[in-house]
Amino acid sequence: MSIEKYIRDIQDFPKPGIVFKDITPLLANPEASKVFLELLINGLPDVKIDKVVGVESRGFFFATLLAYKLDAGFVPVRKPKKLPYTTISATYDLEYGQDTLEIHTDAIQKGDKVLIHDDVLATGGTAKAVCELVEKLGGEIVQCNFLMELTFLNGREKIKQYDIFSPLKY
Ligand code: PRP
Ligand code: MG
Repeated sequence: MSIEKYIRDIQDFPKPGIVFKDITPLLANPEASKVFLELLINGLPDVKIDKVVGVESRGFFFATLLAYKLDAGFVPVRKPKKLPYTTISATYDLEYGQDTLEIHTDAIQKGDKVLIHDDVLATGGTAKAVCELVEKLGGEIVQCNFLMELTFLNGREKIKQYDIFSPLKY
């Protein structure tokens, strides 16, 4: 199966000059979704994962599938003021300005083996912030995986100390 065809390019979204990688055709196709899920599973090292951390919002889709498949817990990392219990936060730089992500303080136990998942690795700012949150809580990051990677933005550099996996590279 050619997996690229399930990712749709949308020109000039959300801003002129940006080509948005739309994963909704993939999400809508059960066979393609299974193929992507297997590719992600096959890219993992042979370690029992305790928690899969999914990044709001497009990271949630496959992170929950991965958690189910790996018999692991699912942990949401969310945008500010969405999580109801005590949180810690990490702030990261965007092209213009900053953004913040939060996690519940009891979401990860010290020594938990953690898989971090998001849909896209672009500049790596999001993934780096999520890694910081997980490590602050004492989690051990087994891998950061993504459906795809925009290699020209060099996001790998920001999280180079971790194992990184993505089945699709642009
Ligand atoms: C997008 C994408 C990744 C992140 C990657 O999320 O889903 O989470 O950007 O970018 P980076 O590597 O440059 O940090 P976005 O913040 O647009 O939010 P969404 O997932 O809620 O659509
Ligand atoms: Mg996102």
